[in-house]
Amino acid sequence: MTGMLEGRVAIVTGGGRGIGAGVARLMAAQGAKVVVNDLGVALDGTGADKGPADEVVEEIKKAGGEAVVNGNDVSDFTAAEAMVRQAIDTYGQLDVLVNVAGILRDRMVFNMNEEDWDSVIRVHLRGTFNTVRHASAYWRELRNPDAHHRIINFTSGSGLHGAPGQPNYAAAKMGIVGLTYSCANALGRYGVTANAIAPGAATRMTESIPEGRRRAPAPQNATDERSPDNVAPAVAYLASERSDWCTGQVLSARGYEIGLYNVPQVIRQIASPGPWDLETAARMMESSFAPALGQRGGGFGQGQGGGGGGRS
Ligand SMILES: NC(=O)c1ccc[n+]([C@@H]2O[C@H](COP(=O)([O-])OP(=O)(O)OC[C@H]3O[C@@H](n4cnc5c(N)ncnc54)[C@H](O)[C@@H]3O)[C@@H](O)[C@H]2O)c1
Repeated sequence: MTGMLEGRVAIVTGGGRGIGAGVARLMAAQGAKVVVNDLGVALDGTGADKGPADEVVEEIKKAGGEAVVNGNDVSDFTAAEAMVRQAIDTYGQLDVLVNVAGILRDRMVFNMNEEDWDSVIRVHLRGTFNTVRHASAYWRELRNPDAHHRIINFTSGSGLHGAPGQPNYAAAKMGIVGLTYSCANALGRYGVTANAIAPGAATRMTESIPEGRRRAPAPQNATDERSPDNVAPAVAYLASERSDWCTGQVLSARGYEIGLYNVPQVIRQIASPGPWDLETAARMMESSFAPALGQRGGGFGQGQGGGGGGRS
């Protein structure tokens, strides 16, 4: 069997369940040797169980692929370093880092406590930084501008579109976009691309959204359009040597659709010949910017209150 990822070594964090498990299985089926990381926590980040990661590794091996388990916490800096070291010690190299691990603690911003804020930021944003930090230090040491090293982070429509009931998660996921852009600019000279995926799939994460706000019921089998396995092909392609052309991008992967987001840019500009007079600034902003946003404030602020916001 020769797959698109033959000879490549990958880490998939959060690889024990949901989208991460689908990514780990497809990457292994395409020839990658995979470190399947998962702390095996509950949706809110509590507890720990190596079982889910063990099961995915067993499945991969049964199907003829190569994989090892890593049960570390991505939000622990030293444990993330050990994960990167495990990939290099076990398989001799590391080519691809896929950061999928995540938790949810949904509350409206006016009800959120510090612990729910910190724990979500810690797992998503700090966790993504931790693994990127250690993998990029390793790739920098190699000093190979022609390498095909890959960082693939997971962001969310919750951040990109601002889910009202997920302020902590939305902030963490947009932090990951900034980190991804920064890495794309910083690491290109070492042969590293950095991209982010905004997925959509029926997993326990979307099951936590109140039923009335869900877009579709959980899928019954892998052929269902909302299966987490449908996110994996976009990730596996970005992980391959063929995707050198793609860096600093956010892609959506949901059902049978893969999308390319734009990179934010200034769409209207007004200028003053000197320091702004407040009334002039107000009038020019109202006459130039307000029409560009239309009546609904560019899609923000109308009829979005309450609940988890329908995205994860
Ligand atoms: N499901 C969706 O529609 C959706 C939408 C947007 C974004 N996402 C993002 O996609 C990713 C995967 O989501 P999912 O729906 O498969 O969720 P999931 O809950 O099924 O899987 C997440 C996995 O991450 C693991 N994990 C959590 N904290 C960890 C830690 N500290 N260290 C190591 N592992 C840890 C969990 O044990 C779990 O197995 C997440 O980053 C999520 O935010 C999902």
